[in-house]
Amino acid sequence: MLSLALIIVPVLVAAAPDGAALLARFECHRCHEGTGLTAITESRHCVRCHQAILEDRFEAPKEALVEWRPHLRSLRVVPSLAGIGNVLRREWVEAFLLAPQDLRPELPASMPRFRMSAEEASALARHLVPKESAGPVPSSAHVERGRALYEKHRCGDCHAFSGSGEHPRGDSPYRAMTREASPANPMALAPDLRFTRERLQPAVLRAWLENPRALRPDTLMPSLGLAPKEVDALASFVWHAKLELERAPASKPRLPVLERKVSYAEVEKRVFRKVCWHCHSSPDYNRGDGGPGNTGGLGFAARRLDLSSYEGVAAGLLASDGSRQSVFLPTENGLPRLLAVMLARRSEERGVVSELRGMPLGLPSMSDEEIQLVETWISQGRPR
Ligand code: HEC
Ligand code: HEC
Ligand code: HEC
Ligand code: HEC
Repeated sequence: MLSLALIIVPVLVAAAPDGAALLARFECHRCHEGTGLTAITESRHCVRCHQAILEDRFEAPKEALVEWRPHLRSLRVVPSLAGIGNVLRREWVEAFLLAPQDLRPELPASMPRFRMSAEEASALARHLVPKESAGPVPSSAHVERGRALYEKHRCGDCHAFSGSGEHPRGDSPYRAMTREASPANPMALAPDLRFTRERLQPAVLRAWLENPRALRPDTLMPSLGLAPKEVDALASFVWHAKLELERAPASKPRLPVLERKVSYAEVEKRVFRKVCWHCHSSPDYNRGDGGPGNTGGLGFAARRLDLSSYEGVAAGLLASDGSRQSVFLPTENGLPRLLAVMLARRSEERGVVSELRGMPLGLPSMSDEEIQLVETWISQGRPR
């Protein structure tokens, strides 16, 4: 009897994935604060290390810091997860984990697309949003008064509200801050309010407008001292404003390959070292950690793709059957994998998600010219 119990218990545990264990396995705390996990060191934290460099707290020669700083654009800041259980809908969190969408127009990075099963996403969402507050959706009676208040209180200093006819303000004081290297920029973290009616627990919106910090302690949204009637009208506007359909920009044809010669050195400088290398680096460079795209991390197994040298690129990656595979082999669409992943990122940004994971993972796609450069180099036989 006793031995039977010992066998059954571990099976039951394995069947219901534990939220906290999943947060640790996917290393959510390498980007987010407020996960409840023990903090990891700055030398592994994607955002805190960048902030240390921007704020002159990183131990490195002065010249290095001066050179690095202007390059740090994507991961200066990400939203804290502290208190999201008070605010976000569980169902929305679950869907977002499986298919992240871009929420914050001033934040270059978006959530990475993880290798996550539906059960894992569901367990994480239950852990992050244990209980939703019940209550009615905001009244739809004061939309136009809310619109006037939205303008009066300059919500558009920080927020986009796409499709509503409201535009972010060009003279916002926070806009100047984005041009500086300020990690604590409230505008960068302000979501496009278009998504709020899908994201928020409906009963929470009024309380949010009254005192955001009471719900999300780390939030950069200030308390605006609104009167109760103003809160009603603004909630009405945010929840019920008529939204024009946002049309995804049409996919553009790729630029034709260049006539001139393109060397590895040029591709390395403008593409691999500029972006890819930060997740596909040489393990020797950083105490065995070659980044999530090489030695593994963020819940990904080690794919052993090193994009820091010509030899590394030529050596390819580990395929799912464990064999080495060239990154120049064509995928289903006939394009070399290296090119196909960059075009997949383009499509993801337009909301078109395919089986192929877009690269760079969770970051703005490479430009037409950068993609053209890689395609030209491949078509010329990948000269050194
Ligand atoms: C590489 C950095 C990175 C990692 C790792 C990461 N995230 Fe995120 N996450 C982001 C960024 C950037 C955003 C903001 C996206 C946007 O606004 O478009 C975000 C947004 C979110 C949001 C929405 C919060 C809000 O207020 O909009 C949730 C929920 C979330 N992440 C959960 C997770 C979980 C759970 C994990 C681990 C499974 C995780 N994240 C791992 C970068 C990361
Ligand atoms: C130990 C500090 C440190 C850590 C940890 C770190 N980075 Fe960086 N990162 C840097 C430095 C330094 C640069 C600028 C390098 C340069 O200028 O060549 C940089 C630049 C980048 C860039 C290119 C510039 C940009 O903003 O687009 C990306 C992308 C990037 N890092 C992603 C990541 C990701 C993802 C993680 C976590 C998996 C991470 N970094 C962790 C130090 C760090
Ligand atoms: C100084 C910049 C700033 C101003 C001004 C501002 N907000 Fe915000 N707002 C934010 C930030 C930052 C967040 C994101 C909170 C977080 O991630 O912790 C936010 C979040 C929100 C949310 C939650 C949206 C979501 O989808 O999660 C709503 C609703 C909102 N703001 C409405 C307003 C309204 C209405 C006004 C004007 C009365 C306003 N905000 C003014 C910065 C601002
Ligand atoms: C933020 C981290 C990150 C950045 C930046 C990044 N990658 Fe990746 N890359 C990964 C991870 C993680 C994997 C493993 C994905 C998997 O196993 O599904 C990967 C896998 C790949 C693969 C194999 C994909 C497949 O389906 O077999 C290619 C090719 C690739 N990356 C190319 C690039 C290129 C090119 C760039 C720069 C334009 C880049 N990566 C930037 C994290 C990153």
